[in-house]
Amino acid sequence: MIYSRIIGTGSYLPAKVLTNYDLEKMVDTSHDWIFTRSGIVERHFAADDELTSDLALHASRKAIEAAGIAASEIDLVIVATTSPDMAFPSTACILQDKLGIKNGAPAFDMQAVCGGFIFALNTADLYIRGGQAKTVLVVGAEVLSRMLDKNDRTTFVLFGDGAGAVVLRASDKPGIVASKLHSDGQHCNMLKADPLISMDGKAVFKFAVKVLSDVVDELLEDQKMTGSDIAWMVPHQANIRIIEATAKKLGLDMKNVVVTVANHGNTSAASVPMALDTAVRDGRIQAGQNIILEAVGGGFTWGAVLIKW
Ligand code: UT7
Repeated sequence: MIYSRIIGTGSYLPAKVLTNYDLEKMVDTSHDWIFTRSGIVERHFAADDELTSDLALHASRKAIEAAGIAASEIDLVIVATTSPDMAFPSTACILQDKLGIKNGAPAFDMQAVCGGFIFALNTADLYIRGGQAKTVLVVGAEVLSRMLDKNDRTTFVLFGDGAGAVVLRASDKPGIVASKLHSDGQHCNMLKADPLISMDGKAVFKFAVKVLSDVVDELLEDQKMTGSDIAWMVPHQANIRIIEATAKKLGLDMKNVVVTVANHGNTSAASVPMALDTAVRDGRIQAGQNIILEAVGGGFTWGAVLIKW
């Protein structure tokens, strides 16, 4: 049996930091409102000349270094992003060039908004289990600051830029154990960017808590596991209240949930791999543990992945 194992993680936040107090000077808001409603304290915005592929490059180099491999060993590159450098070529092809990968490995973007990393990880897993790839770079990278409406305080304060990456390798030991993905286009107007981000925050909140707890339940039931088997849940970092409500519905203690939203706000496809990298590097995630990754985003798209670390 072939499994996909994560052998290296990396993340990157751009240097420019905007605190909630900085935003108070830009829109009619307050630190207290933002912090109590979302748990966000600050976010990072890319420099004017910094592109999604640049953020992806920093995170990828760290993941490749942590994996102890050469970039030339990568035989598939997937970038989950909803804020690509340009309409085409894909950010994955641009990243492939910046990494100096010249082996002809397929490279493509995955567009599932905040669910993007989960969808990309599942795709990479299918490539590996199907024998079509052995060493895959999966990245979630976003420059959402360029899609924000500076006149809309209801969204402007919530989002930020960043990137996270993992290297997956084929192994005879698990690995990614199972994945569950879903989409429902009926809700395509609830959260969209056309070209600037707009959303029905309350409706998104309710929807997110329901589908995230449902999909994690679905995954656990399928594996004949319960919440007590899970060492860490690494959720999409959109709002601390969504994370807490989902954990509560699942009967998970918050001490088993990785939370990084305070430091970067909602970074869409980048949030799960950034949170994962944080918990790997600070030693919380350890070999043998069961880890759940989950995310929901515009579309709607949502899903969860169970990993034996
Ligand atoms: O990746 C998935 C993407 N999105 C999400 O996960 C977001 C999901 N939704 C949420 O996180 C929350 O719904 C929000 C954080 C967006 C909003 O929290 P809420 O508790 O649902 O607040 P609300 O929308 O009910 O707004 C309450 C009040 C309103 O004023 P009134 O009508 O009560 O007078 C808003 O106008 O807060 C006002 N408000 C603000 N006040 C200060 C809205 N935005 C702001 C702001 N600063 N930035």
